[in-house]
Amino acid sequence: MPDAVGSDGWAEFVAFADHVNAVQREVEGEHALIRSPEQVLLSQQHQDYLEKPVWVALEGEQVVGSARGRRPLDDGAAALFAQIAVAADRRRRGIGTALLDRVVEHAGHWGCTTLQSFVVHPSDPLAPLVPAASGSGGVPATNPETRFLVRHGFTLEQASLGSTLALPVDPDHLDQVEKEARRRSTGYDIVTWQAPTAAHRIDDLALLRRRMSTDAPSAGRDADEERWDAARTRQHDAMQVAAGRTVLYAGAVHRASGQLVAFTELWLEADPQVVPDQLDTLVLREHRGHGLGVLVKVANLRRLVAVRPGSSLIKTFNASENEHMVAINRRLGFVPWIVSGAWQKRLPG
Ligand SMILES: CC(C)(COP(=O)(O)OP(=O)(O)OC[C@H]1O[C@@H](n2cnc3c(N)ncnc32)[C@H](O)[C@@H]1OP(=O)(O)O)[C@@H](O)C(=O)NCCC(=O)NCCS
Repeated sequence: MPDAVGSDGWAEFVAFADHVNAVQREVEGEHALIRSPEQVLLSQQHQDYLEKPVWVALEGEQVVGSARGRRPLDDGAAALFAQIAVAADRRRRGIGTALLDRVVEHAGHWGCTTLQSFVVHPSDPLAPLVPAASGSGGVPATNPETRFLVRHGFTLEQASLGSTLALPVDPDHLDQVEKEARRRSTGYDIVTWQAPTAAHRIDDLALLRRRMSTDAPSAGRDADEERWDAARTRQHDAMQVAAGRTVLYAGAVHRASGQLVAFTELWLEADPQVVPDQLDTLVLREHRGHGLGVLVKVANLRRLVAVRPGSSLIKTFNASENEHMVAINRRLGFVPWIVSGAWQKRLPG
């Protein structure tokens, strides 16, 4: 890993980032999140809460395959997450398998009990589906990545729906959706802000992120609680800002207690060509049923149009069985785009 941009190993690192971007572009097309080598390095340099091992397959100097790992360092966490990618013109030669073998070997050293992978599956409307163990949705059975994962003993625990929303959303439609939700939300104020999050909201946001790691549906996946505290929450924001990203937050404040009880976040890359990403949304269990999920999303969509008026699209992923979130997105006007799978392989530990 180079110490800094341009230092020893930088050319090889750029080759690695280019390779990852090429495979990402192939799988997700024009909606792919392309990260600059500088952004990838910045992320790799922060490993206080997640260890981020990388393996590369080289042919001479050329990067032809990679495995990117994420190992949560929270107490008791026993999962390793990995994304494997092989250059399109080097497939079916055992490179993916060789990378996976290395990952499994290291997972064993670390005492991990599961290996998990979140995989985007290009659509094939004619293909039969591998059904998700969650009971909702599935992914195309005949895709190469599906065959690879099944062959190597992974099971599909959960299918997610990737969807997109054309912008700007008709303001009358947003007003109407907001009006319906407002009827159920007396006692809450909707607020918006941008990273870095102000000190008076940090602890509340940390709690929301902690809950996000366990309350979002995870089907049969082993989902360990992520220990988010104020320091980690601050570091997370600082990293995005340093990467040139604009993070738009919207939240709901419970008027009686002053607590932030819901949040949603949208990421905008500095490059306006990159499709903005609607990421986490959570309403604390105790405050569900008041339309807060809709209201925070509406507020953030309005912010997005104000901050980046040229945006023509945003994308998001939701677990298929997450009926409430999928319903909210449908109501806002999101349409299906692609599916992704949460795969898990049990390890001896
Ligand atoms: C999935 C991926 C990593 C596989 O890499 P690879 O180097 O081609 O994999 P291997 O050569 O080791 O294939 C191992 C086995 O997977 C299965 N497989 C892989 N590609 C296949 C295909 N196109 N058709 C049928 N089976 C296939 C086969 O069982 C194969 O064994 P075999 O060649 O002896 O029949 C590669 O297709 C890829 O990079 N896809 C895009 C990124 C991605 O979706 N990654 C998800 C994995 S985490």
